[in-house]
Amino acid sequence: MQMTDLIAKKRDGGVLSTEEIDFMIQGYTRGEIPDYQMSAMCMAILLRGMDDRETLDMTMSMMHSGETLDLSPIQGVKADKHSTGGVGDKTSLVLCPMVAAAGLKIAKMSGRGLGHTGGTIDKLESFPGFTTAISEETFFDNVNRIGIAIMGQTADLVPADKKIYALRDVTGTVPSIPLIVSSIMSKKLASGADVIVLDVKCGDGAFMKTEEDARTLAKGLTRIGRLAGRKCAAVITDMDQPLGWAVGNAVEVKEAIAVLKGEQQGDLLELCLTLGGCMLAEAGYEPGIEAARERMLKTIADGSALRKLAEMVEAQGGDPAAVYDTSILPDAKVKIPVPAAEGGYVKRIHAERVGLVSMHLGGGRATKESDIDLSVGVVLAKKVGDKVEPGESLGTIHASSKEKAEQAAALLRDCFEFSAEPVERPAFIKDIIR
Ligand code: URA
Repeated sequence: MQMTDLIAKKRDGGVLSTEEIDFMIQGYTRGEIPDYQMSAMCMAILLRGMDDRETLDMTMSMMHSGETLDLSPIQGVKADKHSTGGVGDKTSLVLCPMVAAAGLKIAKMSGRGLGHTGGTIDKLESFPGFTTAISEETFFDNVNRIGIAIMGQTADLVPADKKIYALRDVTGTVPSIPLIVSSIMSKKLASGADVIVLDVKCGDGAFMKTEEDARTLAKGLTRIGRLAGRKCAAVITDMDQPLGWAVGNAVEVKEAIAVLKGEQQGDLLELCLTLGGCMLAEAGYEPGIEAARERMLKTIADGSALRKLAEMVEAQGGDPAAVYDTSILPDAKVKIPVPAAEGGYVKRIHAERVGLVSMHLGGGRATKESDIDLSVGVVLAKKVGDKVEPGESLGTIHASSKEKAEQAAALLRDCFEFSAEPVERPAFIKDIIR
C-alpha cells in the first residue's frame, strides 16, 4: 500500500477502506509516513469528507494508536463528559459531583487548559493539596468507593491525535467534521466510559461559530459514539457570552460551589441539569431527562452534591474544608469594579474577548509551559438582556496588581455592546441530540 495512492483516492472523492485508514493512521503515528503526506491527506479529507464508516474506522484506529483505559475494575455504569470548550466553562465542577451524588459513577480524565483560563485540572488545583496525578489503582478505588474521580490525561492516550492535531493546526485543516469527530471520539472512547455526554458549544466564544455547524458536529459525534457501542448524547449550547458569571480559575470554583449549594440559578445550573439528565437517562438510571433533573435537584437541596465534591477533593489530597469555606481558596490581591461608560441594555458580551482578559491577568496559558495564577480572573455583574445604568458595574476584575487590574478593566469594558432597546435573553440550550 502506498500513501500517495490513498491521498489521490481521497482527492478524487473515493472512499478509503478500513485497511487503508489503519495503514495511514498507524504508519503516521510510528513516523513512517511523513508530515507532508499526512497534511495532504487531511486537506483531501477536509475537501471531500468521509462517510460514517470511514470516520468510525479512523476513530477506532486512532483510539488504538496508544494506551486505552480499561474501566472494568469499576463496578456499575461509568459516565464521562466532554465539552468542545468555552469561556467560563466550569461545568464539570458542578455536573460531576451532582451526577455522582445521584448514583452514577464518574470516571473522568481531564486536561489542563491552553488559552483563556485553565482546564478542569487547573481549576481543581485551587483546592490546596488537590492532585489529579493519581495512579490508575487509586482512580479505580476512588470511583468504586465514593463514585467519582478525575484523573489527569496519561501521556500515552491516543498519540495519533497529538500528532495529527498539531499538523491540522498549522495546515488549515482543523475545521473538518470527520477530523474533529475522530479526534474527540478517539480520546473519549480510549477513556473507557460506557456513557459519553458531549457539550457542543456554539457562538462567538466557541469552536463552532454557528448553530448549524454545531448541530452537524453533535450529530457526527453521537453517531460515531453509538456505532462504537457506547451510549451517547449531545447538548448544543450558546457560547455567545461566557457561561455563568466567573471566568478564571478559583473564581470559577467559587461559582461552581455556589451552584452546588443551591445559591445560584441560571445558565450554568441549567446546562448541568441537562447534561446530567442525558447521562442518567442514557445510563438507564431514569426514564427521561425530566425525572433525572428532579433527582439531581434533590442532590443540591439535601447537600449530597456538595458533600460529593468535598469527598472527591479529600480523596485526591485536597482540603475538603475549602468546599464549605471558600475563603481558603486562592484570592486575588486587587479587586476593582468596572463601571459602565454608557447605559442601555446589554446586547452582546464577546465571550472570547472576556477569556482574553482573564488570560491577560495571568489566568490562562499562552504556551504549555506557562504558569497560571489561580487567583485572578473576571466576575461579570451583567449578562445579555440586562439593563445597565451609566456608572453601574459590569463586573469585577480580580488581579495581582493595580496596574494589571486597570488595564483589564479597560479591556472588559470593550467586551460589552449595548442597545437602547430592550434585548431578549438568548435561548441557552439550543438542542439536545439523543
Ligand atoms: N477538540 C479536539 O479534541 N479535537 C478537535 O479536532 C477539535 C477540538
